[in-house]
Amino acid sequence: MAEENKSATLTIDGQSYELPLHSPTAGPDVLDIRKLYAQAGVFTYDPGFTSTASCDSTITFIDGVKGELLHRGYPIDQLAGKSHYLEVCYLLLYGALPTAAELETFESTITRHTMIHEQMYNFFRGFRRDAHPMAIMVGVVGAMAAFYHDSTDISDPVQREIASHRLIAKMPTIAANAYKYSIGQPFVYPRNDLDYAGNFLNMCFSVPAEEYQVDPILSRAMDRIFTLHADHEQNASTSTVRLASSSGANPFACIAAGIACLWGPAHGGANQACLEMLKEIGSVDRIPEFIARAKDKDDPFRLMGFGHRVYKNFDPRATVMKQSADEVLDLLGVENNPILAVAKELEQAALNDPYFAEKKLFPNVDFYSGVILEAMGFPTSMFTPIFALSRTVGWISQWKEQLSDPAHKIGRPRQLYLGETERDYVDIENR
Ligand code: SDX
Repeated sequence: MAEENKSATLTIDGQSYELPLHSPTAGPDVLDIRKLYAQAGVFTYDPGFTSTASCDSTITFIDGVKGELLHRGYPIDQLAGKSHYLEVCYLLLYGALPTAAELETFESTITRHTMIHEQMYNFFRGFRRDAHPMAIMVGVVGAMAAFYHDSTDISDPVQREIASHRLIAKMPTIAANAYKYSIGQPFVYPRNDLDYAGNFLNMCFSVPAEEYQVDPILSRAMDRIFTLHADHEQNASTSTVRLASSSGANPFACIAAGIACLWGPAHGGANQACLEMLKEIGSVDRIPEFIARAKDKDDPFRLMGFGHRVYKNFDPRATVMKQSADEVLDLLGVENNPILAVAKELEQAALNDPYFAEKKLFPNVDFYSGVILEAMGFPTSMFTPIFALSRTVGWISQWKEQLSDPAHKIGRPRQLYLGETERDYVDIENR
């Protein structure tokens, strides 16, 4: 915590209270209200946490006005352009870029944890073939606690480390298995001779009947998508993981809770919802109709892939994602993809519309990721599982950071109660 040298005065009914003001290394000052209820007998009220810092952290910083995203101080566009996902995982987990030797050891460790317990394959067969892969991931990741007992004791740093490696390593295997099961193809085991992204593509798209060559451009694009989704400060799913962890729940239960939260269309489910929206629009001449609906207060329709709680400028990830979309579609010869044509036209129409400019609604990370994933051959139902796979390292890094804070305690918000005051029970014959 930054040293305290500033404070704010709050006056209630003529009584003044001094509240410390913390100065961060970047971003707005933070008013410390931890002692407010004890001193003044009042709560603060901030549903949706629009003005609330739930913790201090050194992992990721977002400047929503500048459209800046830093991971341990490194800008996301530099990481996406010069680094790769497992190196970013190391950075998020340990706070510094690895040496060549450290990176080799880390990548080898992750590679050797990519297999899942053979009995876990039975879980997939217990689901309907048309089960949403996110339902499968929530179930199977939570069930890891039933198999990896030797890494559930959160008080043991060694077990925390093993659990971290297992989750990062096994998420691609679990996500790929969910996909294979949904299309009735046999599961493909992980391979140690492939890198992280190539291994995932192989587990998703190879079949026993023929050789599958991982295309290096698609593998690079896949790896970049993982990197762009790796962590994002205290978003809804990360806050869910932190809250679950604050009760002492094991790491697999905490990550399963994060996956469940990410599934929502307002959060990680937006990439699937965005592509379904683009398909519903279908052609550029229907864009005005949907723009009008998005602006109509009486219409619940929203432009999926637009807007963000923090970014009131371009989401820097969307900028990189857009470049990737062009590369992948050119490679796959689908640069004339009608969905991409609608996406590009919709983006321009929205960006030039005063409504979206006034409300600072710009394309977010989900706007282009779906177009790339569809072009790569993934069904829309796999978009959020890929987001969950990518975000696991962010959840884990934040989970580790919270557990390493000796002052951390169970999260237990209060409320603004507007219900009935005490009243006596009325027997049914008197109602
Ligand atoms: C992710 O938090 C993170 O960091 C998340 C994430 C991460 O990496 O973890 O970045 C990933 O979840 C990205 C966001 C993906 N979601 C979508 O694309 C869904 C569509 N977007 C919206 O639902 C919305 O923009 C949110 C949920 C993303 C943000 O909502 P806020 O901050 O609570 O803003 P709001 O709902 O209060 O909207 C402010 C105004 C409203 O109008 P008024 O009531 O003030 O008149 O903007 C309007 C909204 O109606 N608005 C939209 C809109 N988003 C907001 N209008 C049309 N289309 C939209 N997409």
